[in-house]
Amino acid sequence: MLRYNLPPLSKQFYITTAIDYVNGQPHLGHAYEKVITDVIARARRCLGEEVFYLTGLDEHGQKVQQAAESTGQDAQTYCDGLAQDWQSFVEKLGISNNDFVRTTDARHKKVVAEVLQQLYDKGEFYQDEYVGFYSAKQETFLTEKDRNEDGEFDPIYGEVQELREKNYYFKLGQHQQWLIDFIEANPDFVRPDYRRNEVLGFLKNETLEDLCISRPKERLEWGIPLPFDPDYVTYVWFDALTNYLSIPRSRGEEADLWPADIHVIGKDILKFHAVYWPIMLKAAGLELPKQVLVHGWWQKDNQKMSKSTGNVVDPVTVIDDWGLDAFRYYVVRELAIGPDGNWTDEGFATRYGAELANGLGNLMNRSLSMLNRYREGIVPEPNDELSAEALAARDKLVKELKASDLQEGLRTIWTYIGRVNQYVDQTAPFKMAKDPEQAERLGEVLYNLVESCRLLAVWLQPYLPDTSRRIYEQLSLPANIVNIAESGWGELAVGHQVNKPEPLFPRRD
Ligand code: MSP
Repeated sequence: MLRYNLPPLSKQFYITTAIDYVNGQPHLGHAYEKVITDVIARARRCLGEEVFYLTGLDEHGQKVQQAAESTGQDAQTYCDGLAQDWQSFVEKLGISNNDFVRTTDARHKKVVAEVLQQLYDKGEFYQDEYVGFYSAKQETFLTEKDRNEDGEFDPIYGEVQELREKNYYFKLGQHQQWLIDFIEANPDFVRPDYRRNEVLGFLKNETLEDLCISRPKERLEWGIPLPFDPDYVTYVWFDALTNYLSIPRSRGEEADLWPADIHVIGKDILKFHAVYWPIMLKAAGLELPKQVLVHGWWQKDNQKMSKSTGNVVDPVTVIDDWGLDAFRYYVVRELAIGPDGNWTDEGFATRYGAELANGLGNLMNRSLSMLNRYREGIVPEPNDELSAEALAARDKLVKELKASDLQEGLRTIWTYIGRVNQYVDQTAPFKMAKDPEQAERLGEVLYNLVESCRLLAVWLQPYLPDTSRRIYEQLSLPANIVNIAESGWGELAVGHQVNKPEPLFPRRD
């Protein structure tokens, strides 16, 4: 038999964020989700994978229609205006996305109609009359079970109205058991564990009610028409979830991208991603995403952020004041992906001063200053005194990046920074420089310092891309992507000339 020795057809690493409602301006929560997703995307690129990163906007539905009405604009004009602000926001955050989806894009609407028609043809939907309660705020139907102990509906539902309405329903009940089995057999499908347990608990203890996937046009116009009944538009969540598929498919890259590797989302939209979305996919005969990675919510000063009280963090103001990488550093270092976080301005300033200015900035600055002062900026003979520690840190970091354990990865890098700063204090090269007999030893120490700086630039690529680039520049090295797992000790060559240092994170008092 003839054997062809072709490389395996490799799928790209495909990662997404939730798509944001365009009924307001972006805030810290949206920025956080995009930044952690960006760090994972860049990390994978720095580990040699081809990556596709998708983010974008959720533009249909009642919330957006109402927001548009309140400004007196038609919905499309309203969305077009805000979409520009959101796209600039993504740029401001230095996000490395490969596409930006808007659910009003023709390419997206076409795929939503395709999926709906397919499920309709397969008999997954039926029409029925609903009599009950509806929350416009959450765009969801409620039942008696949703009432609080005092008999009222929770304030999160806003004004609840009674409704009698014919709609299309998606039969979910028949999908409950395989989904339980799937989540049990795939422990990484929902991360972290406590979110996985939440989904399993829900699936095991409650019977899945059928999902209403339509809204009558007379009540809501702003949506994608059902291809099989023009009197209805599609339920906004069915529309929105499909973005993860519509973009690969409309670009002709479905085979290259699907199934998604990671959907990054906030804890409030877990059920949509870990229950409805897998069921939609399975019903359509498609593979399920490999992971839903769930982050927590930010508060400010231990209180919910809210415009009315002025208790908000505006990422753009912080970035203009402190720099993009300082913002990225703080949110990733302060909060692991999972629990809720608390922003404080003091905490931010403390991390900036201690970890960025004194920790990383000072190490770079003194290493390059001494090399310039004592050796005219020329790299001495290689020496591997710190090599074992550096390589151990690198290997630990690579594991953490592969596991999307971003906060731990920063800890690993900063432990190494602390170690090298301590090495400067212990070896005291500034004293050696005064003693000609110690010239050789001084060269060894300087090599360990400058090579550590180079490795730090490699390791920081996913987290602080601009800082990494500036370190390369100061080291007079080309700023190409360097594979983190493959960059070893001793790559800075003897005789290489570095530049003068410039403060990476100027001290602020
Ligand atoms: N449009 C839906 C998602 C559809 S995905 C197919 C939506 N939009 S949203 O604008 O309300 O939220 C977008 C993301 O931001 C969600 O993952 C949400 O959890 C996250 N956050 C919103 N506020 C947040 C915080 N205060 N903190 C952290 N993330 C939060 O839901």
